[in-house]
Amino acid sequence: MRANLLLGIAFSGFAVANCKPTEPAGHKWQAAKRGDSRSPCPMLNSLANHGWLPRDGKNIDLPMIQSVFDEAMGFDQDVFIGITEAALAVSTTGNSSTFNLQDTAYHNAIEHDGSLSRNDIFFGDNLHFNPLIWIATAARYGIRIPGKSSVISVETAARARAARVEDARRFNPAFNLTQAGLTASYGETSVLMTAFWDEQAGGAPKEYVRVLFEEERIAYLEGFKKGQHSLADLVSMIGAIQAVKV
Ligand code: HEM
Ligand SMILES: *[C@@H]1O[C@H](CO)[C@@H](O)[C@H](O)[C@H]1NC(C)=O
Ligand SMILES: *[C@@H]1O[C@H](CO)[C@@H](O)[C@H](O)[C@H]1NC(C)=O
Repeated sequence: MRANLLLGIAFSGFAVANCKPTEPAGHKWQAAKRGDSRSPCPMLNSLANHGWLPRDGKNIDLPMIQSVFDEAMGFDQDVFIGITEAALAVSTTGNSSTFNLQDTAYHNAIEHDGSLSRNDIFFGDNLHFNPLIWIATAARYGIRIPGKSSVISVETAARARAARVEDARRFNPAFNLTQAGLTASYGETSVLMTAFWDEQAGGAPKEYVRVLFEEERIAYLEGFKKGQHSLADLVSMIGAIQAVKV
């Protein structure tokens, strides 16, 4: 009886160990190589690092964005048409139907002042992950703060976004967040929350968000599973983020 119980415990432990999540076949994470093109968007970069998008980040077209965001992240194919058209408008590939990831850093096309993890263009680099900018956002998200919830709530995400914009307004003498830039800022926080939303926990898992920004990796190993998201879901999240009194 007692031996059976112990055996049972041992076997259930074995089963759990065997269920450790893995990366999808053919989509192993690999760091970008020298000469690869990358974006200020942590999600585009992560998708390239997993080989969903071309690993070199080059010659990306609209059908590719639509199928990749559907297949890898569960977004309906109409969600990212507008933002992709904005990227194609500043393409440097020589083919107006394709763009390189770095093209998306073109200031005030999609890229804007007051990013969560990038510096403003006034300071010279609006493209690469900036640890000092991120550390403030991560603290506001409650990342690495023990004892707090494991997810980022809508309220927390909304306050962190607004606080970063206020930081940028204070420190950047040439600060210029246009109406389109502000809309993009709300959109980015909202698409992040939508992509990772855990209905039961009422937020986006901090660990998924942390590895997206810090490692430009999709948190498969931490248990991420794609949901299914419509444009209406995203619009409703934008409304919820904008409704928070910050
Ligand atoms: C699941 C879909 C997506 C998610 C979760 C996502 C997430 C994010 C996040 C969190 C940021 C803010 C980065 C920061 O403030 O430091 C961002 C920025 C950006 N995203 Fe994405 N993104 C998605 C899709 C896209 C697509 C489809 C495009 C273009 C084709 C795009 C282009 C950009 C650009 C250009 C920025 C830089 C804006 C800036 O901070 O100045 N994103 N994205
Ligand atoms: C430009 O890109 C589109 C979309 O990927 C492709 O179908 C077309 O063949 C390309 N045109 C040239 C001239 O390479
Ligand atoms: C802010 O940026 C927009 C778009 O690039 C530009 O049209 C506008 O003149 C800028 N405003 C200031 C005060 O520089």
